[in-house]
Amino acid sequence: MTKIQLSNDSWNARLYDSKHSFVSKLGNDLVDLLDPKEGERILDLGCGTGDLAKVLSDKRVKVIGVDKSENMIKQAKLKYPEIEFSVCDATELTYYEKFDAVFSNATLHWIKTPKIALECIFNSLKQNGRFIAEFGGKGNINLISDAIIKSMKEQGYEFNMERFPWYFPSIGEYTSLMEDVGFRVIFSHHFDRPTPLEDENGIKNWIHMFASDMFTGIPSDMKDLIISKVEYNLNNHLFKEDKWLADYKRIRVIGMKN
Ligand code: BEZ
Repeated sequence: MTKIQLSNDSWNARLYDSKHSFVSKLGNDLVDLLDPKEGERILDLGCGTGDLAKVLSDKRVKVIGVDKSENMIKQAKLKYPEIEFSVCDATELTYYEKFDAVFSNATLHWIKTPKIALECIFNSLKQNGRFIAEFGGKGNINLISDAIIKSMKEQGYEFNMERFPWYFPSIGEYTSLMEDVGFRVIFSHHFDRPTPLEDENGIKNWIHMFASDMFTGIPSDMKDLIISKVEYNLNNHLFKEDKWLADYKRIRVIGMKN
């Protein structure tokens, strides 16, 4: 099997595929909301290692997948060489009136300049095109992020909220931004979705995969200690029966360019 050469971006595509494939599996019903039609041109924004782009491509859609992470795109190209993938940040898209739909699963909470991304998405769409997205909304992973910050402080590390890696807006906030850039918002939903993590190391793996930026500047043995304490403190709240459930709260939106 070909080993991919990892560049120095912080995304570990193999850990993502081996332990976090639930991200794209849970995106399958977002595909139903997208309701893709044969022959449509669709941009999968934040495609990760390409699994949902593949689902779309199997529905005879002309899909292009973009992701900011080179590691993810390398892996996507290896898995699905028949699909077009490229490295691009959501705030630097240069497409103009090219797509019938822009689709985005579990990505937009990484974008801390949401209005710039929304302008790029709007410009990428043809007239009457649609934007369908799901991402973390207000209150998402509160228990996990509070536990990390608390444990860091207990070990003597201050946490500056500028290092908080995510943007978790309310529906009101996000749909207002959508309207500001020109979208007609026809659907929005903010809901709880406790999300099962893989195996008994689920919470540790999740933190290593997704929350490493919170630990910038902290030595790795101290990071491991903090994560162990987080795991211990969250056990009563998020370990149910035999598995970890992350306290996800999602936002789903549909905006029309018309
Ligand atoms: C999410 O899908 O809600 C999420 C994933 C990784 C980090 C933060 C949130």
